[in-house]
Amino acid sequence: MKIMLFGPQGAGKGTIGEMISEKYNIPLLSAGQMLRDAMKEGTEVGKIAEKYINEGNLVPPEVITDVIKERIIKDDCKDGFILDGFPRNLKQAELFGDKMDEIDYMIEFEAPMEVLMRRLTGRRTCRNCGAIYNIFPECAPHPKEEGKCDKCGGELYQREDDTEEAIKKRLNIYKEETEPILQKYNNRVVKIDAGDNPQAIFERVLKIIEK
Ligand code: AP5
Ligand code: MG
Repeated sequence: MKIMLFGPQGAGKGTIGEMISEKYNIPLLSAGQMLRDAMKEGTEVGKIAEKYINEGNLVPPEVITDVIKERIIKDDCKDGFILDGFPRNLKQAELFGDKMDEIDYMIEFEAPMEVLMRRLTGRRTCRNCGAIYNIFPECAPHPKEEGKCDKCGGELYQREDDTEEAIKKRLNIYKEETEPILQKYNNRVVKIDAGDNPQAIFERVLKIIEK
């Protein structure tokens, strides 16, 4: 099963993507997390990505498309995968080529702007494994112990691109560059309301998949 998750920053692609991944035992491939891992490891891709990411800009389309294409041929993707944050513009979709036709479900998460902003400013990410948490009471999930990842014990940090300025830029890029993909594939994209709690959103996704 091959799934693509679309939606603006903070819509919960990473959060719900992880729940889908656990249920169906297929990997969640977050383009942003893969680039952050490359930065941490200091690879060529990581060095290129760094300045784009920290300012909230997209990395060049050829770079990310190659990263994704190389990733999906790995053994753990043989039963499928969940793509979160790829493609992000028409050029990337074009570079992905025939593989766009092989996607079983294209799902778009929608949530109001105030909700997105609030979730993003409260987000904390594990520096070690990339797991996602939030510090605000109405957001979820919360770490059991403050500042510490439940899964691996790693330190929780606030992403460099979760400043108000970079968030605004990313949301703009989403509108200008990513929404045209949704228009192009509008007969295949299913929209869901992603404004409430993670479990409710997850159930909406399951309805689409299990229909
Ligand atoms: P990426 O890491 O993908 O970041 P993003 O696009 O900014 O998306 P987010 O991760 O912010 O949103 P999300 O929907 O995953 O939200 P989350 O689940 O964390 O990309 C980062 C950068 O990498 C890009 O800016 C770009 O530079 C580069 N990049 C990535 N892909 C690229 C590509 N294809 N091409 C070029 N460059 C690329 O949720 C947010 C918060 O809310 C969390 O704290 C969570 O705990 C909380 N939360 C989530 N859902 C709920 C809920 N239902 N109720 C309450 N709280 C919730
Ligand atoms: Mg994410």
